[in-house]
Amino acid sequence: MAVAIWSSGLVIMCCLFLFLCSYPPLWPFLFIYWIWIQVDTAPETGRRIFPSVRRSKFWRYFAEYYPVSRVFLFLQETDLPPDRPYVFGYHPHGVGALVTFATEATGFSSLFPGITPHLLTLTNNFKVPFYRDILMALGIYSVSKASCSNILKAGPGSSITIVVGGAAESLSARPGTVNLTLRKRFGFIKVAIQHGADLVPVFSFGENDIYEQMPNEKGTTIHTLQKHFQSIFGFTLPLFHGRGVLNYNLGLMPYRRRIVVVIGRPIPVKQHDKPTTEEVREVQEKYITELTRIWDTYKDEFAKARLRELQIVE
Ligand SMILES: *[C@@H]1O[C@H](CO)[C@@H](O)[C@H](O)[C@H]1NC(C)=O
Repeated sequence: MAVAIWSSGLVIMCCLFLFLCSYPPLWPFLFIYWIWIQVDTAPETGRRIFPSVRRSKFWRYFAEYYPVSRVFLFLQETDLPPDRPYVFGYHPHGVGALVTFATEATGFSSLFPGITPHLLTLTNNFKVPFYRDILMALGIYSVSKASCSNILKAGPGSSITIVVGGAAESLSARPGTVNLTLRKRFGFIKVAIQHGADLVPVFSFGENDIYEQMPNEKGTTIHTLQKHFQSIFGFTLPLFHGRGVLNYNLGLMPYRRRIVVVIGRPIPVKQHDKPTTEEVREVQEKYITELTRIWDTYKDEFAKARLRELQIVE
């Protein structure tokens, strides 16, 4: 139920807004709220977190949907001292980022005391009435440059999580494989260098196993249409399916399969206002090495059913 509710959250909130609009006495309030959404700068500042919303039982149910009781088993490989800012890079794109960084279901705050997590997502989400306020309460903010900088400016203990591969990566998600979009993504590394934040690679096992996706390799019509859609709207519509709410064969619910989020060792960087291309590439090299190390260390435990090794495609 928790998973079904959250998956349809955006649609439910839009419907709720339209429903309220059908009641004329509310119009002045809705109008003011609508204007507020347009001018509110909070999605870029990261200061509207409500820890009680993050700790809600709802998220425990959400996390426990997947088979093991402690689903998003959180492997603490390292301590992250709260004496500096952090930039977490999350791979591959998926629901574990939400559970780990935007809720307390796997106990982020007790594992890493003193670090405030901010998961960053597409700016358009903050135009959706009510939904935006829930996102911000969870610590989810806009992924714009301004927002990264505003959050990290707070200094020691501040952190952002960027799902580096984003929309492009979600299109290549297939059970048993992990194709990462990473090679040409330099923005998050630049941000980390500019703010002297340690870079922390995070790899999530099982993330690509919870949905099946229609074949959309390069060259197929579906791929072309999806890329076209992405260039217009900035996000993609993967043609995916999982199970139903009450059946196991077909539907939009994810399969109940274990997801294991591993937080890697932090990579220190030297603070620098204008990082050069060489510096960025050098840090990227270390980052990819650490990410690959996580994969190699745990693949036999958490990716037993893999069909192929980890690939960094573009
Ligand atoms: C993943 O990468 C491999 C190797 O580059 C490629 O053969 C495969 O088609 C890719 N899968 C998807 C779904 O893009």
